[in-house]
Order: sequence, then structure tokens, then C-alpha cells
Amino acid sequence: MQTQVALVTGAADGIGWAMARRFAAAGCCVALADLDHDRTAARAAELGDRHLAVRADVADEASAIAMVEETVARLGRLDILVNNAGIGDSHKPTLEQDLATFDRILRVHLDGTFVASREAARAMAGQGGAILNVSSIAGLTGLPRRNAYGAAKAGIVAMTKSMACEWAGAGIRVNAIAPGYVGTALVAKLFEAGRIDRGRLERRIPLGRLADPAEIAEAAWFLCSPSASYVTGAVLSVDGGWSAYGDAGDASLA
Ligand SMILES: NC(=O)c1ccc[n+]([C@@H]2O[C@H](COP(=O)([O-])OP(=O)(O)OC[C@H]3O[C@@H](n4cnc5c(N)ncnc54)[C@H](O)[C@@H]3O)[C@@H](O)[C@H]2O)c1
Repeated sequence: MQTQVALVTGAADGIGWAMARRFAAAGCCVALADLDHDRTAARAAELGDRHLAVRADVADEASAIAMVEETVARLGRLDILVNNAGIGDSHKPTLEQDLATFDRILRVHLDGTFVASREAARAMAGQGGAILNVSSIAGLTGLPRRNAYGAAKAGIVAMTKSMACEWAGAGIRVNAIAPGYVGTALVAKLFEAGRIDRGRLERRIPLGRLADPAEIAEAAWFLCSPSASYVTGAVLSVDGGWSAYGDAGDASLA
């Protein structure tokens, strides 16, 4: 089988970096795309010289288009796209949220996922492929102070299902994962700022701990691999049981 080319956005750190490592370990050539180019270049070099670092701001249409074009031009094709790049919410009460912040969060998650997926589907025409979008438990349930982030992640679920139905005939599968709390910089900032108490949060999670980014990457690889050949339009919770747990307890935890 031809070597698969996978493009992972937000690959300089956290979940995206774990995915890039997992996809490379599975034999893919990986294009690591991120705003933080120096870090991305170091990450790609760590994986080896058949992998590629791409400078990209997925919230900018021209940059997202160029990201897909550069991947295809340098690595020869595109089989897998993972729309992982993301930013957290301001975590301000909704009455204090400003529209510019709200718009920026939607642009990164929704515009980024839309444009990159559209361009990837063009590149996959005639051959098929897999697209994986990164949603969140915040897109499936109501969490306070996540008006923009929750709307963006719920929108990603809707977009996933729409594109899955539209592109199934072209052999392009589109799925999403909804991680719970993962041990990355994004969540560390919330602990440091005192927005979430780690001990109380871990007691709210049935498995009793945060996810390791590598555990999210395993689910991502499954959904993009031939093992998931009959899975499309699905949203897989990878949250340690967080969304299954009916007793939400103290809502301020979330
Ligand atoms: N960490 C969690 O608990 C958690 C839970 C659910 C969902 N998620 C989602 O997983 C994804 C990755 O989160 P993470 O925790 O690894 O975050 P992270 O902050 O550790 O890493 C995110 C990466 O995305 C990059 N990025 C941000 N904006 C970008 C843009 N406009 N264009 C290109 N790259 C950009 C950053 O530079 C960074 O390298 C995000 O979509 C996030 O919303 C995270």
C-alpha cells in the first residue's frame, strides 16, 4: 500500500503533537502545521526527514489553503487531515465576553475546520481519504463560561456529520472525537489561573484522572485508519467517562 500522508493542524504541542507521533509510528508521512513555526520545525525534525513542518494560521483562509497546497506539493498527496488546532475560551462570564474574542474562537475552530476540510476534500478527489475533527465535551454538554468554545465545538460536530454525508460517495470518511480533560498546556493554564481545581475535577471523572495526549491520539489513529473503514459521521467521546456520568456534582468544577 502507498505511504499515507497525514496533515495534522496544531501539531506543535499537546494533542496534535501526540497525534503526529502516533501517525508517524503507524507509517504515515506527517505534515505538522501550526502557528508556532520554530517549535513545529523542531517537532518535524524529531520525527525524521520524511516529515514536514508547515507554517499555518488555520483561522486565515489563504493560510489554510496554502497549508494544504504545500502538503500536497511537498509530500505528493493527502490521505488524512486532522483538524486539531484550537484555542480555549476566555472563561469569562458570558456578560463580560466581548465579540472580538467570541469571533476569534469561532474563526480558529469553525473557519479553520471548514476551509482545511474543503481544501483537503479537493486534494482527496478520486482517491478518498479520512478527515478527523477535534470537538470536545464542551460541544456536547453545557459548560458555564464556554459560550464561544462550546458553540465552536458543537458546530464542529454538525459540520462533521454534514460533510460525512456529503463526501461518503467520494470515499472520504469524516469523524470527530470529543476529548474530556487532557493534560496539555491548554488545561494547565486553567489550573494555574485557579479556574479549575484539579483534585475536584479528577473526582468528577469516572476514570479518576486527566487523559494523556497519547490516549487521544490512539482514538484519532483508529478513526483515520482502515480499521474504521465503516465509520463515518461519528463522534467518539474520549473522556474517561465524564459525559456518561449522570451526577454532575458541583457545576463550578466544569
Ligand atoms: N486539552 C484538553 O483538555 C482538550 C479537551 C477537549 C478538546 N481539546 C481540543 O484539542 C485541540 C488541541 O488542544 P491542546 O490541549 O493540545 O492545546 P494546546 O494549546 O496544547 O495546543 C494547541 C496547538 O494549536 C496551535 N494553534 C492554535 N491556534 C492555531 C491556529 N490558528 N492555526 C494553527 N495552529 C494553531 C497552537 O500553537 C498549539 O501548538 C484543540 O482543538 C482543543 O480545543 C482539548
